[in-house]
Amino acid sequence: MTAVLPDPALAGARPSARSHSPRRYLMCPPTHFAVEYAINPWMVSGTPVDRARATSQWDALRRTYLDLGHRVDIVDPVPGLPDMVYAANGATVVGGTVLGARFRHPQRAAEAAAYAGWFRRAAFWRVVEPEFVNEGEGDLLVVGAGPEATILAGYGFRTEPRAHGEAARVLGCEVVPLELVDPRYYHLDTAVAVLDATTIAWLPEAFTPASQAVVRERFPEAVVADPADAAVLGLNAVSDGRHVVLPAPATRLAAALAERGFVPVPIDLSELRKGGGGPKCCTLEVRS
Ligand code: ARG
Repeated sequence: MTAVLPDPALAGARPSARSHSPRRYLMCPPTHFAVEYAINPWMVSGTPVDRARATSQWDALRRTYLDLGHRVDIVDPVPGLPDMVYAANGATVVGGTVLGARFRHPQRAAEAAAYAGWFRRAAFWRVVEPEFVNEGEGDLLVVGAGPEATILAGYGFRTEPRAHGEAARVLGCEVVPLELVDPRYYHLDTAVAVLDATTIAWLPEAFTPASQAVVRERFPEAVVADPADAAVLGLNAVSDGRHVVLPAPATRLAAALAERGFVPVPIDLSELRKGGGGPKCCTLEVRS
């Protein structure tokens, strides 16, 4: 009698396909992108940037989202605001309510009104101008949707802890403060990638021991990133629940995500990394 052996092709089978949902994103083209000042360790003031290259990389990111079935809206870039390409910092939107941004550094301050104006013109009726410094989705990462949504809220470099209570009140979400300690990971979205309503990837070393404990308790199954992948901004990723758009050099992280049934979508944003940002920084999710 011949034994029925498992098909070797299935032995390493992935978990069943993860489901994804169409998203709406807001992006700002790098028309005026430059590295004219240094407000994070990735930026070396005066570094030449190839704007044509930045634009083609940014456009490839935009087209990737369209190919994945997402909607992309565009906010007009403003001359004199070289960091405006990092749209994630422009607001936090949950259930159609827009919590505007307030930037820590004067060089970016005027971006807040440019983003808030876009939302008002797009007929978002609830646009709240914040009292405290918050750099939008750079530090306020929404996990899950609807009344169950939780905001992981970074602080230590940019967003003020006082902004956390404001975000909870305005957006009606539970807020979980997480303290960042490494200046290279100055925004939460450089140290945490939200993959779906229950899964994140992160770099534990970017947080205080107390905050590490909070993350471990909430996300025991979290994907732990290799420091080398975080160091190419690999965690600055955008997930629709299934596809994870992430910086191409973060190859180990891509493999770890594939292992968990996600589909990594590597993208080259090397020119925009000169300003300290990756795919997530260039992408603001508009949650209706
Ligand atoms: N140069 C910008 C800054 O330092 C980069 C912002 C990156 N954005 C982000 N969401 N991490 O403010």
